[in-house]
Amino acid sequence: MGKNLTRKILEAHLAKPSDMKPGEEIYVKVDQTLTHDINAVMTYLAFEAIGIDRTQVETSVSYLDHNLLYLDNKTPDDHIYLQSVAKRFGVHVSRPGNGICHAVHVARFGAPGKLSMGGDSHTPHGGSIGMLCIGVGGMDVATAMTGVPMRLKMPEIIRVNLKGHLKPGCNAKEVILEMLRRVGIKGGLGKVFEYVGEGAAGLEVAERATITNMGAEMGATTSIFPGDEQVQKFMRAQGREAEYVEMLPDEDAEYDGEIEIDLSQLEPLIACPHQPDNVVPLKEVEKKKVQQVFIGSCTNASYSDIAKVALVMQGHHVNENVSCTCAVSSKQVYKQLLKDGYLEMLVDAGVRILEIACGPCCAIGQSPATKGVAVRTSNRNFKGRAGNPTAEIYLVSPESAAATAILGTFASAEDILGEDVAKLAEIHEPETYPVDDSMIIKPLPEEEAQNVEIVRGPNIQPLPVPEPFTDHLCVPISLKTVYNITTDDITPASAEFSSMRSNIPLMSKYCYHRYDPEFSERAKKMGQSIIIGGENYGQGSSREHAAINPMYLGVRAVIAKSIARIHKGNLLNHGIIPMVFEDPADYDKLEMGDELEIQDLLNQMKTKRVEVIDKTKGIAFGVCLELSDNELEVISCGGQLRYLKKQLGK
Ligand code: F3S
Repeated sequence: MGKNLTRKILEAHLAKPSDMKPGEEIYVKVDQTLTHDINAVMTYLAFEAIGIDRTQVETSVSYLDHNLLYLDNKTPDDHIYLQSVAKRFGVHVSRPGNGICHAVHVARFGAPGKLSMGGDSHTPHGGSIGMLCIGVGGMDVATAMTGVPMRLKMPEIIRVNLKGHLKPGCNAKEVILEMLRRVGIKGGLGKVFEYVGEGAAGLEVAERATITNMGAEMGATTSIFPGDEQVQKFMRAQGREAEYVEMLPDEDAEYDGEIEIDLSQLEPLIACPHQPDNVVPLKEVEKKKVQQVFIGSCTNASYSDIAKVALVMQGHHVNENVSCTCAVSSKQVYKQLLKDGYLEMLVDAGVRILEIACGPCCAIGQSPATKGVAVRTSNRNFKGRAGNPTAEIYLVSPESAAATAILGTFASAEDILGEDVAKLAEIHEPETYPVDDSMIIKPLPEEEAQNVEIVRGPNIQPLPVPEPFTDHLCVPISLKTVYNITTDDITPASAEFSSMRSNIPLMSKYCYHRYDPEFSERAKKMGQSIIIGGENYGQGSSREHAAINPMYLGVRAVIAKSIARIHKGNLLNHGIIPMVFEDPADYDKLEMGDELEIQDLLNQMKTKRVEVIDKTKGIAFGVCLELSDNELEVISCGGQLRYLKKQLGK
């Protein structure tokens, strides 16, 4: 049998021979790394602490794109640090205003067949060009930059056969919402979704990116489309055709599972609060009064997305009860939309054009009103994701968002355009993008780079490093959470909190702030403690602060029913033991404040099963360490930094 595309790329990057059986640990060489401003300070502080002189991968890029709202000195200080540390270590910088990391990376750096790791959960966006892109924690990016092979659990590869073509008024967003409706937020765990078929071949790179980007919402390792003629056309439009290589699965490729979607049967869909898999047909959802519409984010702010919004808006005006904003994905897309008159159409319709950045997607501005209904084209609708936990967030396509902004309640493009909706099918990505890399700072030659001074503002505090474990742990439960806790629950997004990310002593005061405002003080008073979690603990954003802050507050282990992939890696990296209940029913027996004891911890850990005694309740229960031998070594050392230094020292 032939090989699928994912297997071909992984095989080409294997650092150690492997059978590549699903679930087995494999080691791969990484070609490219990506970071962005609100997670990256910790990554580069870790890279400095490791003590390597220069990034060892082909291309490392640091994007300044998330928090461009300089509320005080903290964020500009971070940006100056990031720019200087990038210069010092041979990393490209994409300056504020150049665009959202994933959109720029695909356009200016990515290429079919490459393997990248990015400190952002939506890194799989790059799968749109036949590249294997995996979201990881910031410490993992620092590790990848040292050139050491990266550990990866060999995923199952699922063939997603797309048939037919999308109807006008339907967007690639409908495809990924349909996937979420079918498989749910945990349905992608340990899997790669590989999109093939005539329907896939008909989708442009920008449409493919919407799908691979939001594969993160299913917990997938990544998602990928073939490196085919669509990719060649895109790279030609970017003036980079020379970097194109065809990357296709074999015709008789073997897969571990199959899903089929007939694109022509899809109708506009909507993800209702507070999970992205809470998907229903848009026409069936209860018509609510909408207070806010946001069109933008890495998911749905391409040229064709925004041009279609403009066509829906043409001759109409944003409803008087709706606040409608739009943030375009990159400078080149912005320039093209400006040139083609689409931005003017939006302004005429009463849309407020925002800065080219992530912005509202991660609550950096444009929070909805109290109990406001917000309709967004972004990828996450968790409670509080927009900066206001009382708001309800609904996710839709740009076409539906535009119609909703006009009518003031959930609507599709067809509700506005009627039969004229067919004209939306005439919009395509440009034949040539107005390429301008003046906002990308290239790395200095190695000798020159060594003399660069790294600039650190007062808010940039050293990366805390956890102590290694001792043999006996007897600590209380500092928090018992419900199911589906997100990293937004642990470390809230927003301009205010994002600007604290380089100062852990400060930021940790707000750990679980919106979920349990007393957690931080309580955990600190306890000295050391354990958190109890439900299913899918730590889903959502890759932000490693959701591990660093609890670690700083003395949390030594998380015992949960299940733990999301990236967060589990972050816990490991930062010295918190990720443990899973052997019998999920034990979750119900535990309460906050219970004293838990683990005897002979280090030896028990080696067996990957640990007996925990609840001294308060007088019961004992088992927990599993779903870790590889290598991961076990990392956690036994007290985290990735200590482990890596030990390895590099060897
Ligand atoms: Fe930025 Fe939101 Fe994407 S924060 S990287 S636009 S998910």
